[in-house]
Amino acid sequence: MGKFYLTTPLYYVNSKPHIGHAYTEIAADVLARYHRLANNEDVRFLTGTDEHGQKIAKAAAEAGLSGPEFTDKISLTFRELWKTLNISHDDFIRTTEQRHKESVKKVWERLKGTKVGGQDVIYRNTYDGFYCVSCETFIAEGLLDPNAPALCPDCKKPLERMKEETYFFRMSAYQDRLMQDIRQGRLKILPESRRNEVMGFLEHNKLSDLSVSRPKNRLAWGIPVPFDPEHVTYVWFDALINYISAIGYGSDPAALKKWWPADVHIIGKDIIRHHAVIWPALLYALDLELPKMVFAHGWWVVDGEKMSKSRGNVTDPREIVSVYGVDAFRYFLLREAPFGSDGTFSEEALILRYNTDLANDLGNLLHRTLTMCEKYFEGRVPDFRERACVSNVEINALKLMVAGDEMIDVVDAAMGTLAFSEALGAIWDVVGRANKFIEESAPWTLFKEKKSSDLELVILTLTEVLRDTSQAIWPFMPRTAEVMWTQLGLTFPIDRLEKIPAKAHTTFGVKIAKGTPLFPRIETEKKP
Ligand code: MSP
Repeated sequence: MGKFYLTTPLYYVNSKPHIGHAYTEIAADVLARYHRLANNEDVRFLTGTDEHGQKIAKAAAEAGLSGPEFTDKISLTFRELWKTLNISHDDFIRTTEQRHKESVKKVWERLKGTKVGGQDVIYRNTYDGFYCVSCETFIAEGLLDPNAPALCPDCKKPLERMKEETYFFRMSAYQDRLMQDIRQGRLKILPESRRNEVMGFLEHNKLSDLSVSRPKNRLAWGIPVPFDPEHVTYVWFDALINYISAIGYGSDPAALKKWWPADVHIIGKDIIRHHAVIWPALLYALDLELPKMVFAHGWWVVDGEKMSKSRGNVTDPREIVSVYGVDAFRYFLLREAPFGSDGTFSEEALILRYNTDLANDLGNLLHRTLTMCEKYFEGRVPDFRERACVSNVEINALKLMVAGDEMIDVVDAAMGTLAFSEALGAIWDVVGRANKFIEESAPWTLFKEKKSSDLELVILTLTEVLRDTSQAIWPFMPRTAEVMWTQLGLTFPIDRLEKIPAKAHTTFGVKIAKGTPLFPRIETEKKP
């Protein structure tokens, strides 16, 4: 059995989660579910919270709480939201946990004895430059305009000038190797635009070494450097290590061997350099393989600005799901914008998607099909019978079946590159065809004219296509898919895709259990 290890970033616990965080998490959940469903793989889906550093120390102080009190409280809000959003992670790691601290310690110890090009990988020096507390990032002076106030090139906040004794990681020594690995596809960065951005950066800049500790008298909220208690680990260095600490780095070699390298790190485009430059360099130094893929998705923006706590333009996902439901929210986020691009979040856009795609297209298809099955066949799907293709209905039914089969392959290919909106587009294409098939075959007329063979075929084809559709949407909207499944009267597990269903895995002869419509329309003054 193959394995699939995927991770999300660890979210900062300076404030509670917003839609941007929910987006990454839902995308990772969809991918994890898809791999469990379609490939029958041993999946490990890791998420968690990033709890050290200056930004969090400051937020805790402002809230009048100790570090542990504050981080416990906020980390819990992430965990609770993931439960609400039906996230199926296998592990949730907090950087304040003992298991993580132990691994970080092991990393330091290992690096301390390591040389690159005959020089120590870790050495002491003075960091004299700028720091962005909001991004927790050291900003090279060369990137700044000397005649303007020092602002972070990413988040535009004022930078802090710092001069402190720290430990450095000799990142510069790995530049050529990293460029080779990216060029030759050993480290796959998607989408292509992000790969080009990273390559462009590496081609035009000489990598500097990275300050990887902070003096304890300046910042105490961090993991101590094991050989120098006067220093704590730089928060990014600490956080990146989670991807291996959670699978037993330094404590469980068998688990590490089983899961590492990660198959995909899903991140937002804001932290691409940390994952495509710092992290690979650290892995080289530790003599570990690189992750197979880093996928940097786009941002949810509001009025052209990234949604973020510091810009004060965040929407609480809990409010959205309390009005529209979890699955409509999950669907909207992954359908509305291609995964690598930015998307504009608005409730109007969500309502439009809800009413058209979910209520009109999917909800109606299920409801009409089951209503007809009740009316014409007393709620039992007709059994399949061999028949020659003679009528138009039969030809159209065959075409729809073929489209349903092809959809499974298109979805599979799209999921391989995390093209979630494409996968959903392919599924909805079949939903649209199925609705059209109802109109074209006019079952009500077939019933009146007593064309029972055609009528049987119409219902049977629709229930089969709905079976495929519900399985295909299961990773995206698990609860909806499960309700569809139950209404279709299916009892075998939904979470294992049978590419060529045996008779036992079809809707033939099944007693359906029609329920209320899936997505009752949302009435707005201006109807879409
Ligand atoms: N703690 C670091 C990551 C450490 S990983 C070892 C961090 N945390 S964060 O909470 O600021 O952001 C984490 C992720 O949340 C981003 O990379 C991105 O995936 C997601 N998003 C936060 N705001 C977002 C949007 N407005 N839109 C989409 N996703 C964004 O960086």
